[in-house]
Amino acid sequence: MDKLVIEGQHRLSGSVMVSGSKNAALAIMAAALLPESGTTTIKRVPDLRDVHTLSNLLRIVGAKVNFNDHTLTINSESVSHFEAPYELVKKMRASIYVLGPLLSRFGQATVSLPGGCAFGPRPVDLHIDAMKKLGASIEIQDGYIIAKAKQGRLTGATIHFKTTSVGATGNTLMAAVLANGVTKLFNAAIEPEIIALCDFLVKMGAKIKGIGTKHLEIEGVEKLHAIEFANIFDRIEASTLLAAAAITSGKITLTEVDPSELNTVLIKLKQAGCTIETHETSIHLTSPKKLKATNIDAKPYPNFPTDMQAQWIALMTQADGSSKIVDHVYLERFNHVPELNRLGAGIEVKKNVATLKGPTNLSGAKVMSTDLRASASLILAGLAAKGTTEVLRVYHLDRGYEKIEQKLRQLGAKIERVKYNEFE
Ligand code: EPZ
Repeated sequence: MDKLVIEGQHRLSGSVMVSGSKNAALAIMAAALLPESGTTTIKRVPDLRDVHTLSNLLRIVGAKVNFNDHTLTINSESVSHFEAPYELVKKMRASIYVLGPLLSRFGQATVSLPGGCAFGPRPVDLHIDAMKKLGASIEIQDGYIIAKAKQGRLTGATIHFKTTSVGATGNTLMAAVLANGVTKLFNAAIEPEIIALCDFLVKMGAKIKGIGTKHLEIEGVEKLHAIEFANIFDRIEASTLLAAAAITSGKITLTEVDPSELNTVLIKLKQAGCTIETHETSIHLTSPKKLKATNIDAKPYPNFPTDMQAQWIALMTQADGSSKIVDHVYLERFNHVPELNRLGAGIEVKKNVATLKGPTNLSGAKVMSTDLRASASLILAGLAAKGTTEVLRVYHLDRGYEKIEQKLRQLGAKIERVKYNEFE
């Protein structure tokens, strides 16, 4: 098992290129199941555990998948198996993304229910309800979703999502593109990763109107063709690196990014006192002498992202004054707090609200990762803490950040990846 050993209080400076988006890549990889022939090529795919987990799932259903130097090729001609097994789905909830494409192209799919995760129950009722509306019969048996298109092919429908859901929007889009007739979605997610999925589907020949809005209209087509596609950048990695610069009073530049996709994060960093300069594909951040306490409300895009909530709490431990962090998306996503408090943070959590008064002098200690973004927040705190911090179980981190310690080292952090035996 690996841990990251961090010697705190080194200022970050310099420039780093941000990797491709994990969450866009996962949806697009599932959508590559849709063409009946040809090889789809996806560029700027991050080298992450989740990408390899989904690649293995695509291979299990019969696709030919190759990953080489951040380019994925997927040929779905010989897909002939329609089951996503529990062993893979429990490792990564996004495996449920194969439900829509398998149902759409083959009229059948058996996908394990994903179960819970470190920050609470994560139901898939919106996915299931949408498939039913598109004409699928759904049975839940032995922890599996068994879905069949009643007429052999899905039929277009009007679907109002009661909650804005990235995954349910993506899955429903992939189901609707080959359905018979028109599908109208209301209260659809508008995250950049969903826009990237729509762009990918349209390039494959799908007919989608309203891209970038909460109301999408999809006219089903007979077939889709394989394409070449360049993935978008990872806005959460970009935001995390900016927070790393801000927590160390640093000054960094991010390249190969689209600043408009993390606008709310940039606004909050400015409110906290950072100077931000943006150009077409780069962001330059200069930290203030003293950060100002700044409240956030994590909500669906274009609001402040829940995937940055844990990192923001870490940052606010170094800000002057009291701050309040509310997560309206995942009400229990605060497993990072007890670990941050072991470094001396003094954070209180009541329901889905965290409050703290900074700045606090953090001192290094061993801390345990519990989930992907919690790990990132522990690293940020370690960068600011006095002494040495060891972040254990970084396999959580490797799910969603590609070689983060190399990127941080490139920016001047003192951080090493070290093997260790948890039971020593
Ligand atoms: C996606 O998860 C992301 N994962 C998550 O990122 C991200 O936190 C989340 O969107 C919110 O932005 C991927 O894209 C692979 P949701 P997803 O459906 O699709 C509720 C990371 O750190 N809900 O938008 O699973 C749900 O409980 C990961 O990269 C239902 O009630 O999230 C939540 O409260 C973590 N029923 C809200 O909707 C459903 O059927 C939003 O969840 C589905 C969701």
